Amino acid sequence: MEDLIKRAARDIVEAKKVVALTGSGMSAESGIPTFRDQGGFWEKYNPEVYAHIDVFFSQPEKPWQMVKAFDQQLKAKPNPGHLALAEIEKMGFLKEIITQNVDSLHQQAGSTEVIEFHGNLRRGVCLVCGKYYEWGKISLEVLPPRCECNGILKPDAVFFGEQIPEEAFQRSYEASRKCKLMLVIGTSAIVYPAAGIPQVAKQAGAVVVEINPEKTPLTNFISDYSIIGKAGIILPEIVRELKRLA
Ligand code: APR
Repeated sequence: MEDLIKRAARDIVEAKKVVALTGSGMSAESGIPTFRDQGGFWEKYNPEVYAHIDVFFSQPEKPWQMVKAFDQQLKAKPNPGHLALAEIEKMGFLKEIITQNVDSLHQQAGSTEVIEFHGNLRRGVCLVCGKYYEWGKISLEVLPPRCECNGILKPDAVFFGEQIPEEAFQRSYEASRKCKLMLVIGTSAIVYPAAGIPQVAKQAGAVVVEINPEKTPLTNFISDYSIIGKAGIILPEIVRELKRLA
């Protein structure tokens, strides 16, 4: 593993243009459960019942019940993995993070170029007038919460059955085509279109490096190599190695 960490650091220095694709495993060490691992979020909340856009339109209180259960995210803090990515950005290597996460932890860690591919659960948006509300400003006592115009608020995350926001989609694909190395961190890589992003990078000639304790459908197919382990441990080690090389 040490060899792979050294290899990743050398490849990052050589590549100069690095993009990271992150998933829920990135925030696991901040205490936020992933979606599909044992004890994951979808075990408790069937996405067909709680996270499909059709459900939102027929029973808008349902997704909000689930969002209420996400309130632990308000207390969650960035972990050493988030902080390491912010540092790799400051060093000038990491150009963009494409995240499937809706928890703002990359931004809290200090990363500035973050593309929220699946939106952000810390915001609500009024379906009538389009006004945005930050989490703390939304009362969840009566569900669904409403705007001051009385319109129903929708959590500003992408539901199953919804399109990826156009700007996030375009920016992500552009970044993937331009990068020379892509770090794929903490995602099971089974939910499309996000799962197709590493392939876009690969086809454009980038080296793809996975960081995950488990194998994924990308391992041995799209990824050039995988560093098997937790993001909160591997990424700080890569930063240490980058500093040694500098
Ligand atoms: N460090 C790195 N990876 C980890 C860690 C960790 N500490 N802990 C778990 N993982 C890995 C798991 O091995 C798994 O591959 O994180 C991945 C989590 O996979 P999922 O639960 O499927 O989460 P994600 O890939 O983010 O899901 C994608 O699916 O339901 C939708 O919208 C939801 O954005 C989400 C999307």
